[in-house]
This record gives sequence, C-alpha cells and structure tokens, in this order.
Amino acid sequence: MSETLRSIVRRFPGRPTLEGAGVRLRRSFSNAEVPLFDPFLLLDRFGSGNPEDYLAGFPWHPHRGIETITYVLNGRVEHGDTLGNSGVIANGDVQWMNSGSGIVHQEMPKRTEGTFDGFQLWLNRPAREKMSTPAYRGLSQREIPRVPTERGGEVKVVAGAYGGTEGPVRGISVEPEYLDVRLAGDERLELPVPPGRTAFAHGIGGGGTFAGDDARPLGAGETALFGDGAVVRARAGPEGMRFLLASGRPLHEPVAWYGPIVMNTQDELSTALLELRRGEFVKERRPIVEE
Ligand code: CO
Repeated sequence: MSETLRSIVRRFPGRPTLEGAGVRLRRSFSNAEVPLFDPFLLLDRFGSGNPEDYLAGFPWHPHRGIETITYVLNGRVEHGDTLGNSGVIANGDVQWMNSGSGIVHQEMPKRTEGTFDGFQLWLNRPAREKMSTPAYRGLSQREIPRVPTERGGEVKVVAGAYGGTEGPVRGISVEPEYLDVRLAGDERLELPVPPGRTAFAHGIGGGGTFAGDDARPLGAGETALFGDGAVVRARAGPEGMRFLLASGRPLHEPVAWYGPIVMNTQDELSTALLELRRGEFVKERRPIVEE
C-alpha cells in the first residue's frame, strides 16, 4: 500500500518586489498569503547578475517575533547584529536567526561574479516564544550534511532529516524541515513529510513534476504549496532539477504583521513601535566583535 502522496494545490510565480534600501527580488509569498503557509510567513528569492539590483542591501533594521533563514546559493552577504555577531554568509552558507524579543541587524550583499542568488525565508514563532531570548546560528556550507541519492543527486539537510541524516538546526518547536534537493536527469525521489504539516517546494533550477500534478513542471523561481499527505514525490525532467523543500507544524494563531515585526495582536505591534522610538526595543545587546 502506498502512502498518501502530496499534490500541488497552488502555485506562486513570485512577484517583482523592491525591498530593503532598494534590492530587486522576487517575493513568492508574504502577508497577503497568511495563513496558507503557516508557520512560514515570507519567501524572497534573490537572483540577479546586475549588482545594481542588490548592492543597496538591507541596512540596519529591527525584527521581532520571527526567525529569518538566509541561504546564499551564490555570492556574499556581510552581516552584523545587536547580539554582537558579524561576518560573511557566502556560497552555500545558511544564517538561521531567531529574532526573539528583538534584534537589529544589517544584511549587505557584496559584488558577485555571475548571479547573486539565494533566499530569505521567515518562520513564525509561537505566541509563548515570541519574546524569547534572540539566538543566532551561522552555518558554513561545510557544516550542512549532504546525502547522496540513488541516481546521482544529493540532498543538503539544513533542518529536519533525510535518509537518517539530521540537519544541524534543531530544537525549534514547529519542527521545521529545510532541504536543498538536487536530482539528476529523470531521477525520482520520495521525501516523507508527516500529515498535518504545511509543506512547499521552490524551484531553484531545472524542472520536474510532483505526484498528482503531471500537467506542468515546477520551473525555477516558482513556488508550489502542497496539500496534505505523507510523502512528496518528485520526478526530475531530463535536465535534472533542484528545489528547496520546507515544511513545519502550523501554529493556528492570529498574525499581526508590521514590516519586519510579526506578533499576535495590534497591541503588541504598538508596543514594539513605541519601544523602537524610545530606544527600548533591543533587550539583549552585545558589542560587535569582528570574526
Ligand atoms: Co532582516
């Protein structure tokens, strides 16, 4: 007996968006899609060969109530924050940051040979953890395990597990899974995602189909939201396929969203904005020590 396959229920082509100090990116989903992707809030895809599209970057700005997950596929991003972290995220590195009660940081892409490419995904925190102590995880590409597939592909496990290998990001209550999946031409792969979890895929390159949706391949830059089931079955086209697969347990909580701050109520947003004006937003502050 085969397990229930998850099929695509909606596709998101990504809309051109200007963010930060003038970065041109493609936004797959955001506040207009709440609660479809619960517990995820936003997905931005970078991807430009023109430095004018990204060099303006994301100068100092606050976050509260969420985790931001930045994955640089190609290029370099300099960062710094009020927890005292600073450094560079480059080619295959992941920054997984829990803003908790409040962090102020900057993220500045540097001039890149070829295409500057990558993602930022926002993961919501449950109400009881929104004002938790901020935490920073910087993962170099060497710390992210790679599991070979049967026919020449590879799965990079950032969070969750594949083939018995667990990713380095653990201990998050919505149990997020974050996999970078690369399949060889015509390769098939089954990825278990427990029923009840929200799951989506984002096409990084190449193309392929998912079970229950043989009509049209998922192309690069496109995001597919899956319906419920137990397994995501991918089938790469002849040229192979690379995609991000993310899943997590939905929170089913009210969302109050103002820019980079996502809370549960308008009152909590008002408090955050008042604290920003008064210089009381950041609860934990450490000086930056250069890496
Ligand atoms: Co930010």
